[in-house]
Amino acid sequence: MSANAPLSFVHRFEPATEAGAPPLLLLHGTGGDENDLIGLGRMLSPGSALLAPRGKVLEGGMPRFFRRLAEGVFDEEDVRRRAGELADFVREARETYGLAAPVAVGFSNGANIAAATLLLRPGTFSGAILLRAMVPLADPPAVAPTDTRVLLLSGAMDPIVPGENAERLAGQLRAAGARVEHRLLPAGHGLSQADVSLAQGWLAAPAEAVA
Ligand code: MLT
Repeated sequence: MSANAPLSFVHRFEPATEAGAPPLLLLHGTGGDENDLIGLGRMLSPGSALLAPRGKVLEGGMPRFFRRLAEGVFDEEDVRRRAGELADFVREARETYGLAAPVAVGFSNGANIAAATLLLRPGTFSGAILLRAMVPLADPPAVAPTDTRVLLLSGAMDPIVPGENAERLAGQLRAAGARVEHRLLPAGHGLSQADVSLAQGWLAAPAEAVA
């Protein structure tokens, strides 16, 4: 069963089938939409409510979550504005659908907006799985620290995200108080089976077990 209320983002919502399973906020990559990560969400946590917005920015007709000036060069003013919009959407959707704070699961551009939201609007997510994320803001603001759990999965052969950039993002998140587990996988920018297994394990692990 799915029900979609008219909220501030076009989105897809799938209710939980298991009480207590953490809601997942699914954030697609460039050119994706609200349907892209539903299958991944079901694999990661079968009983969870799934909330999947579609990015509002169009680049040559391809949805994204914020503007970029070139590959890997972001319009940071837009990043800030869009992260605020996403955080407001999460609040709206939580009220509408009666959800706990979600775990963000973002891929590529979706991981980057999730990272920006962690840095700019802490407390929006109960945790985050960032798949092939990079630094969204060169100089993030100092915000009140939170102890949100973050799993950052990077690809050693990723042609879009240099290893140094992913390391820098891990450092920014740690400086903001997040408990970051950063893994470098033998993969490119695309997802691999190892991403799925690690994300499943991380979601299932008690918070204390992954420092
Ligand atoms: C971005 O623009 O967010 C990153 O370069 C990833 C991408 O969407 O290609």
